[in-house]
Amino acid sequence: MAKISARYVCQECGASTARWAGKCDSCGAWNSIVEEAQREATPKGLGAAKGRRIELVALEGASAPPPRFQVGIAELDRVCGGGLVPASALLVGGDPGIGKSTVLLQAVAALAQSGRSCVYISGEEAIEQVRLRALRLGLASAPVQLAAATSLRDIAATLDVGEPPAVVVIDSIQTMYLDSLDSAPGTVAQVRACAAEMIRLAKRRGFTLFLVGHVTKEGQIAGPRVLEHMVDTVLYFEGERGHQFRILRATKNRFGPTDEIGVFEMTDAGLVGVANPSALFLAERRGNVAGACVFAGIEGTRPVLMEIQALVAPSALGTPRRAVVGWDSGRLSMLLAVLDARAGLALGANDVYLNVAGGLRVSEPAADLAVAAALVSSAMDVPVPADMAVFGEIGLSGEVRAVGQTEARLKEAAKLGFARALVPKIGRAARPSAEPGIAVRSIGHVQDIAALFRRGSEA
Ligand code: TYD
Ligand code: MG
Repeated sequence: MAKISARYVCQECGASTARWAGKCDSCGAWNSIVEEAQREATPKGLGAAKGRRIELVALEGASAPPPRFQVGIAELDRVCGGGLVPASALLVGGDPGIGKSTVLLQAVAALAQSGRSCVYISGEEAIEQVRLRALRLGLASAPVQLAAATSLRDIAATLDVGEPPAVVVIDSIQTMYLDSLDSAPGTVAQVRACAAEMIRLAKRRGFTLFLVGHVTKEGQIAGPRVLEHMVDTVLYFEGERGHQFRILRATKNRFGPTDEIGVFEMTDAGLVGVANPSALFLAERRGNVAGACVFAGIEGTRPVLMEIQALVAPSALGTPRRAVVGWDSGRLSMLLAVLDARAGLALGANDVYLNVAGGLRVSEPAADLAVAAALVSSAMDVPVPADMAVFGEIGLSGEVRAVGQTEARLKEAAKLGFARALVPKIGRAARPSAEPGIAVRSIGHVQDIAALFRRGSEA
């Protein structure tokens, strides 16, 4: 029988193929496929040896919720689902320079100061560099155990003796290597093997493991996505360069909710948690500008208000430009088509720019109505009332659909001084109860948006 050995592995998504190709069929990345040495021979099936019978049990049984311990950094604890779980593995991904090393150094320092033993292993920076950063952050006195190492065999040997630490940080997993593999550090095979070894050690010794993974554009280094299925929790750092906000988002969590976010601000003293993100995202807002609309969104368990900005301008090009920051460009195309077909607002000859102010990335469909309002407002050059918060999903026939957590959104808007809210019109039974201090106005179809502003501006 011919042996099928997949030796070409995409460094972006980890898919393996039998032959090299310029483009990965699974994730569409270009130039990401490299040849990798095979680790193990092809499996030979079960053979003659008998396995041991495993015991099958009922779903219901005595079990306790995972014991957790707090880091003491409120935003980080929130994203992790209320604290760290012993013997679990977390992956912290993000672009280089976004603040992964900074937040993890702050976390281990805080934990060490509260009496837990913490190990920070840097494969990228020399001990001096880490010490310098700790000094800058004012954390130099924290009893963190520090090492600069890249050999996984040495690291595992070190962590395997004596009292196990509570938390171990590996910064970053892409610099680690296992000498039993032929491939270079950073390749999918190395990254996976090193992560698997570390995770096994964490489960056996009972420590919480943080793995740092860089998101890479080129595909020379395996991205953190190839590890997502191996770890318990996946956290991604988001944020635009040039903005001081950093969003830590949980995209997978076996011990807590996903889509929870932690909001940080990068300052001279490292990353500082932001307790009231809405106020921060709206801080630079200027009232009464056409094309700006405040969206009352939900991020994880928390309502967050943010400004959506649209600019509709006549295009000088044959194919008008569509540029989006912080939102899905496919969703924008859909909304433009709906506005054209259902509300008679043809923007086909216009350039359209859309921006979520503050560097936040919105994935909620509830933002549709706010985006539509911003687009209509910019096209008509009539401002959305500055004291109005908007939310609602838009369907293909132009109907405005109900979204979840109306109460929480209205409450947050009222708290920040908004006097009006534009919400989806829904059945009488499920009418949102009026929140004190906020006038709720409902809308059933996108064709009513324009009329609303005309009346709004006259009032
Ligand atoms: P870093 O944590 O090294 O990023 P990563 O590990 O994700 O690659 O963050 C580096 C950036 O953070 C760098 O551009 C400088 C900035 N920074 C501050 O602004 N203030 C600080 O106190 C620190 C430590 C870093
Ligand atoms: Mg770093």
